[in-house]
Amino acid sequence: MLTIFNTIKEIALKIDHAIKTEDLGYSDSSNSSGEDQLKLDVKSDYIIEEAFKNVSIVKALVSEEKEGMLELHTDGKYTICYDPLDGSSLADVNLSVGSIFGIYEGELNGENLVASAYVVYGPRIELVVATKEGKPKHYRAQEGLFNLIGEITLGQKGKINAPGGTQQYWSAHHKRFVDALFMDGYRLRYSGGMVPDLHQILLKGGGIFSYPGTSDVPKGKLRQLFEVMPFALMYEQAGGQAIDENGMRLLDLAPSHLHDTTPCFFGSNYEMAALKALYRIKV
Ligand code: AHG
Ligand code: MN
Ligand code: MN
Repeated sequence: MLTIFNTIKEIALKIDHAIKTEDLGYSDSSNSSGEDQLKLDVKSDYIIEEAFKNVSIVKALVSEEKEGMLELHTDGKYTICYDPLDGSSLADVNLSVGSIFGIYEGELNGENLVASAYVVYGPRIELVVATKEGKPKHYRAQEGLFNLIGEITLGQKGKINAPGGTQQYWSAHHKRFVDALFMDGYRLRYSGGMVPDLHQILLKGGGIFSYPGTSDVPKGKLRQLFEVMPFALMYEQAGGQAIDENGMRLLDLAPSHLHDTTPCFFGSNYEMAALKALYRIKV
């Protein structure tokens, strides 16, 4: 596992360099979710694939930017599902973007997610890694080295509300929930990049990020294997919760297809209890 985390550190430095130096325009292709790919999406995907080709414990790769699974080493133990550049459409306006990695052992489902990691490319490069034991670990890069800043623990209640999706298409009860949080003093903190948005909640001690099912996209936008589950592990290990609109743990999900999406809610315990009450989820 250490080899995988070290490879992610090398990848992070290379992708950061690409973001800072390369063309920010579109390529002439689209990904399996039908989204136009930026040149940076394609380049980041290539950097990750090349890096893991040399790591023999990696059995296969699943990328947001590729339709199918890429087999690497038959005797490998882990399959890595990743979003090479999350929030890539924010790069041209110079907002933070990220990479997300889920490391699975066996079938691709939440139960078999053994570790996860994400990188934030912001004013600094930061890395957070989580396993099923202990709190997530937070690193910051300085001159090519990742220094441990500390462990991440969520408070019981935060102040941040990060509501995703198009409001026009929210359900009435979701709108009531979001309004109730604002009436309770919560502040809007939403950049449109789930990596910096979820990172902010983790580091500022709590709050809630939601990306519900909407009338235009009933199953939500965010993808289970390489966006939702890696962050679900982070939030649970930090002492928070990660559930869908029925109150099911996101780590209990088992996707039928590699690119399946799900409505998702991540947060500290107080906000998640409020969510369950308003969504009338039995606890
Ligand atoms: P990606 O750039 O990998 O396609 O994903 C972006 C995601 C996520 O970061 C964010 O929370 C969400 O898309 C926002 O999407 P909309 O602005 O379409 O709601
Ligand atoms: Mn993404
Ligand atoms: Mn992406």
